[in-house]
Amino acid sequence: MYILGVETSCDETAAAVVKDGRRILSSVVYSSLPQHRRYGGIIPEIASRMQLEAVVRVADEAVARAKIKKNALDAVAVTKNPGLFGSLVVGTGFAKASAFNLGIPVIPVDHLYSHAYACVLNHPRIKLPAVALIVSGGHTSLYYVPRFTDYRLLGQTNDDACGEAFDKVAKILGLGYPGGPAIEKIARSGGPKRRRVFACSNTANLFDFSFSGIKTAILYYVQRNINGRLTKLETAQVAASFQDAVIKTLVTKSLQACRFKKARRLIVGGGVAANEKLRAALKAAALASGIEVFFPAKSLCMDNAAMVAGLGYHFYKSKNTVDYRMAGCFPAQRSDYAFG
Ligand code: KG4
Ligand code: ZN
Repeated sequence: MYILGVETSCDETAAAVVKDGRRILSSVVYSSLPQHRRYGGIIPEIASRMQLEAVVRVADEAVARAKIKKNALDAVAVTKNPGLFGSLVVGTGFAKASAFNLGIPVIPVDHLYSHAYACVLNHPRIKLPAVALIVSGGHTSLYYVPRFTDYRLLGQTNDDACGEAFDKVAKILGLGYPGGPAIEKIARSGGPKRRRVFACSNTANLFDFSFSGIKTAILYYVQRNINGRLTKLETAQVAASFQDAVIKTLVTKSLQACRFKKARRLIVGGGVAANEKLRAALKAAALASGIEVFFPAKSLCMDNAAMVAGLGYHFYKSKNTVDYRMAGCFPAQRSDYAFG
C-alpha cells in the first residue's frame, strides 16, 4: 500500500511516499527557515505563504522520486494538528483536494504521534507497548503507547517546550536561531568547571516538565552577573549547564515513566532528539535499567512527511479511527492546488 504523507505544521513543507507503513520510497523536505532567521523565530504568515507556493512542487517531487504514478497512491495522510493554523490549512487543503481528485481517502494524523512513529521507520521491528518521549520545538510530552493508533498522555510541559527553551536560551546567549544545534555545538567547549549550575524546576505531576524557570534564571544571570557581555568561555559554560539540566530532567522522567508503566521500551522523537548528548545519556540510563531505547535517524527527528505517511498506514488499517472526511476542515473540491 502506497501512502503520500503531507506535513506543513511549522516552517517545513514536506511530502513523502511510504510503502506499507515502513519503507520510505521518497521524502522531500523544503524549509523556509532562511526567510525567518533574521526575526529570531518562525513568522507564521511567512511560513504559510511559502508553503502555499511550495506544496504542489514538493508533493510532485516526492511522487517522482518514489518512481510511482500518482494514481498508484492508496491514500493521503496529512498532519491535522497541532501546528501553525495557516500552515495546517495549506497542508490539509492540499491533501483533501488531491485525495478528492484521485478518488482516495485522507488520513488525518496528529503531529506529535507521528514524531513518536518516526523511529519505527529506522527500527521496523520495534514492539509495543512503549513509552514515547516527544521533544520538539512546540511540545514536550510523555505518552504510553500500547498500539500505534493509541497514545495515552502521561505528562507534558507546563510552560515552554523543550526545543523552545533551547531556542530562547540561545537567543539570550546571542547564538542565533534555531538554538538547539547552536547550544549543542558551543556546549562542547563548556568544560566541567562552571561558575553556576542551573536546574529545571520541579512539577506537581511527576511526568510533567517545566523549562521556563531555567530560561529566566539564565536571563537574570546573564543580565546581573556579567552585564549581558559574556566571553566565549562563559557562553559555552552557561550553554553546557543549561543542556545538562534539560537532559537530566528528560532522562529521569522518561525512565520513571517506563518504570511506572512497566514498559521495557522507550521511543524518542522530535527535533531535540537529534541532540547527541541527550541520545548518549538516554542510552546509558536505559541500558542500566534494562530498557531498550530507540531514536529516529537525525533527518527523521526534524519535521518530515515520512513519519506522517508511515503512521497514516496504521490508522488506515484500523478503519474505526480514520476520519476520511476530515470533518470540520474544508470540504474537498476540485482545485488547482492539487494532484489528479
Ligand atoms: O520537531 P521539530 O523539527 O519542530 C517542531 O515540531 O517543533 O523541532 C524543532 C526544535 C527546535 O526548537 C530546535 O532548536 C530543536 O528542535 N533542535 C535541537 C537540536 N536540533 C534541533 N535541540 C537540541 N539539540 C539539537 N541538536
Ligand atoms: Zn515537529
